[in-house]
Formats: sequence, structure tokens, C-alpha cells
Amino acid sequence: MDTGKAYRFCIAPMMEWTDRHCRYFHRLLTRETRIYTEMITTAAVLHGNRARLLACRPAEHPVALQLGGSHPRELARCAEIAVDFGYDEINLNVGCPSDRVQEGRFGACLMAEPLLVGECVAAMKAKVKVPVTVKCRIGIDDQDPEEALEALTGAVKQACVDALIVHARKAWLDGLSPRENRDLPPLDYDRVYRLKARHPDLAIVLNGGIAALDDAEEHLKHVDGVMVGRTAYQEPWRLLAVDPVLFGKIARFASPMAAARALIPYVESELARGTRLHAITRHILGLFRGAPGARAFRRHLATEAVKPGAGIAVLRDALAFVVQDEEPSTRSAAA
Ligand SMILES: Cc1cc2nc3c(=O)[nH]c(=O)nc-3n(C[C@H](O)[C@H](O)[C@H](O)COP(=O)(O)O)c2cc1C
Repeated sequence: MDTGKAYRFCIAPMMEWTDRHCRYFHRLLTRETRIYTEMITTAAVLHGNRARLLACRPAEHPVALQLGGSHPRELARCAEIAVDFGYDEINLNVGCPSDRVQEGRFGACLMAEPLLVGECVAAMKAKVKVPVTVKCRIGIDDQDPEEALEALTGAVKQACVDALIVHARKAWLDGLSPRENRDLPPLDYDRVYRLKARHPDLAIVLNGGIAALDDAEEHLKHVDGVMVGRTAYQEPWRLLAVDPVLFGKIARFASPMAAARALIPYVESELARGTRLHAITRHILGLFRGAPGARAFRRHLATEAVKPGAGIAVLRDALAFVVQDEEPSTRSAAA
């Protein structure tokens, strides 16, 4: 695998957001992007309803499962299970600051235990052939980020990690909520660029605050890939430009409307299986952001799709509010 290229553009793992419906929808917008699941804990994989937690359709690939945990043997077992479910990569969460995660001694607090992270990676690598990657912060609390990031990088490199994804800000474990931890500690892109310069042989992916594709192109002069979270979710129309702009490939659909229409058969098949309409349509609310009729589209879905028994007609009616033809969007995806 050309690792550099494989990680060129990634959609971030986001709890409650990047579920299987969201991933299916995002895949309609871009073929080349690497997509990450929400974090799933090792306890959930080992003791929970695996078929529900790990279901992933062939159409989603390439897709990475993000695991939360810190026991090498448990992580290795979960990695094996994930591969059986068809995942293309296993990613370890070393960035989540929530109290619940800290109590379980995983997520961002692992920044203080680089050797253990190395052991976790080595244990997974010993059991699976798919890439094993880590998503981390540049440090936590009063750690010196230069030292903390270097120590973590050294440990995971030693364990032959396949890529390191760096959310380019510290996490404050005490006093800031997970939400505040996504915005408040300042971003430090230069630190991640320097990390790549020091480790040219390791695939490094930069995450945090990236919105426009021309910003992504700028970062790609310094690192192997970019990972985009909130913007990808809230303004998914931007994803249509990823394949042409970053991969030189033809976009899957000429317009957000064409992509929305292509989602209809999926929605129908899920409705037939008992999935509620809102479980899918909640992910597409930002698809037409800025276009005439977008607000009515969102409002219609927000009020009607949540009703028990809401069917495909609700989605069709919502789309009818949007004034957009099949031509490429006039909005610049790089804007
Ligand atoms: C709703 C939400 C849920 C998130 N859940 C996870 C998660 O499960 N695992 C993880 O590593 N990061 C999680 N994150 C953090 C994102 O992956 C990403 O690192 C962060 O949002 C910064 O990227 P952005 O500025 O492009 O959004 C979450 C972020 C959001 C907004």
C-alpha cells in the first residue's frame, strides 16, 4: 500500500456522528477518502452486541475502526474481530479527554504512557495484517509537547505503527469538557510539521481546524495527510470536491442533489429493515448549506423525519425545497 496516498484525506472519528449511515452517505460524496468510525471501546466489542456495533457495508471501504482501550491483549483480540467484520485499518484513540475515558485509563491520558501505547500497537500488529494507526494529541495538561509527542512517536514507531494522526492541540484533562478541548487549547500545526520533518519515514496525518480544501493542500506540502472532522460533518457538500482536487479523480456526483438522490435506495432499504428515517437524515442536514431552499430542507427533515413511521416521502419532499440542478455546485469547495 502507498501509505502516504492512503491517508491523504481522512474523515475523523466522531462519536454519535460517524455511524454507519453517516459513513455510507460520506462515501457517496467521495471515493478516495479514508473514513473512521466513532470510537468503540474494547469492552463494548468484547461484551456488547458486535453485529450492531461493528456492522459495516462493503460500500464504506476504505474504513477504519477506532478502538478505545489500553490493554494490549484485549486490543489485539478486538483488532482480530474487527478484521473479521471487514475493517481496513485499526486506529487507537489516544486523544479523547472525557472523564469516562480517563476512568477507563485510555484516550488522551495515554499520552503520559507512551510505552504502553507502543505495547498496544505491537500487540495488534502481531495479530492483524491491516494497518494499525494511532490518533493522538500533541500533549496533555502541563506536558512539554515537544517531549510528549516525540516520546509517543518513538514508542509507536518502534512498534511499527502504520500512521500517526495528530490532533494538533493539547488536551486539558482537568477543567475542560471534551467539547472545549476541541477548540480551546491552541492549534500548533508547526509542531506537527516539525514532527514529520524529524520522521520522514512515518506517515503523519494532521488534524484540527481544517475546513477549506486549499488549506488542506497547503498542509499536504508538510505532512502525508489531513483529517477533517466537524467541517466534513456539518458541510458535507465540500466532500464532493475532495476526489477531483486532492486525488485528480472525477467526483462521484456532479452536485449535492445528485448525491442526495443516490442516497434514496439506501434509505429505502434501511427503512425496510426498521431503521428510523431520522437516524439517516440527521447526517445530511448540511448538504445544501448556503443554497436556496437549504433552510426549508433542514427544517422539513428536522420536524418530519423524527415522527414515528416517517417514510421516504419525507426525504423526497425535503429535497423538493432545494433549488439546485444537476450541474456542479457554483459554490467553490475551496471557499
Ligand atoms: C461530535 C464529536 C465526536 C468526536 N468523537 C471522537 C471520537 O470518538 N474519537 C476521536 O478520536 N475523536 C473524536 N472527536 C474529535 C475529532 O476526531 C477531531 O479530532 C476534532 O473534532 C478536531 O478536528 P476538526 O477541527 O476537524 O473537527 C470528536 C469530535 C466531535 C465534534
